[in-house]
Amino acid sequence: MSLARFLDLADFSAEEVRDLLALAERLQHHPEPQALAGRILGLVFLNPSLRTLASMQAGMARLGGTSFVITPGQGTWALETRLGVRMDGGAAEHIREGLPVLASYCDALGIRAFAEGKDLAADLAETNFRAMAALVDKPLINLESAVNHPCQALADWKTLDDERVPERAKFVLSWVPHPRALPLAVPAAALHMAALRGHEVVVLRPEGFALPAPIMERARAAARASGGSVSETDDRAAALAGAQVVYAKEWGATDPYGDAARDAELRARFGDWQVRESTFARSAPDCRLMHCLPVRRNVAVADEVLDGPRSVVLREAHNRLVVQMAVLYRLLK
Ligand code: CP
Repeated sequence: MSLARFLDLADFSAEEVRDLLALAERLQHHPEPQALAGRILGLVFLNPSLRTLASMQAGMARLGGTSFVITPGQGTWALETRLGVRMDGGAAEHIREGLPVLASYCDALGIRAFAEGKDLAADLAETNFRAMAALVDKPLINLESAVNHPCQALADWKTLDDERVPERAKFVLSWVPHPRALPLAVPAAALHMAALRGHEVVVLRPEGFALPAPIMERARAAARASGGSVSETDDRAAALAGAQVVYAKEWGATDPYGDAARDAELRARFGDWQVRESTFARSAPDCRLMHCLPVRRNVAVADEVLDGPRSVVLREAHNRLVVQMAVLYRLLK
């Protein structure tokens, strides 16, 4: 299987994901340091990153290729992303020129562009990312868009494999506190991944933070295909009973979406949703704690959990490198 683009784990069947993970495993244990010799990866980060930026560059280097990173406005021209605007502000260059130029210098391009967090329909439709993708005539990787983070989801699937978590295990995606409203990309991607892997998935979130219906419906369709299930609740005790995985994630209020004042008022009520050791009182004894990182210690997850044996967050982060090497190999070999 060769790839033209890696934009969404939902573009793949569970079997195709397993095939990609088998390649990741092979490259992990039998390195091919010249596989992508002479190949160039361009990386455009419209938003900050630690893992994605470093693991993409490291993965390309480990396969013998090279990469360049553009962080618009930080040593390069700021890029305007809006269409039809009069460019008399801070941005000197438009993506309509900038992205095709960058794509012409490399063999594949990765783009990170977070949600604007104002218009739910536009974010669900990936309006901005799709507009950028249309400007790139090379293999393209989604490094996190408005409602998707396929590289993180793939790494999380591998982490579940590594931890030998059974495919029918109870997987709880739990909303956790954060000082700001964060995008829906990781919760949506983690939900879909767990549903596609066949888990009994429970989305545990307080009032006002329900994941949008299209995200839930898509995950339910994946669960039906894989023999899993997807439900949602605000009942923490019921959700966590028997859980074998708690995937902690912060996201912004969705009812309404993009209302900063309402979001702040809602999240002020739910500070006690932080994951602590007591969270696991009714879970399976070896219940794992997953989080994509970065994580706010003692806001989202307590030190005692992050530093304890349940936490697999460092393995998840390392697996970003491992699985992305497989993606790069399939795109560029
Ligand atoms: N999980 C993740 O994507 O991390 P970064 O934002 O640091 O890339």
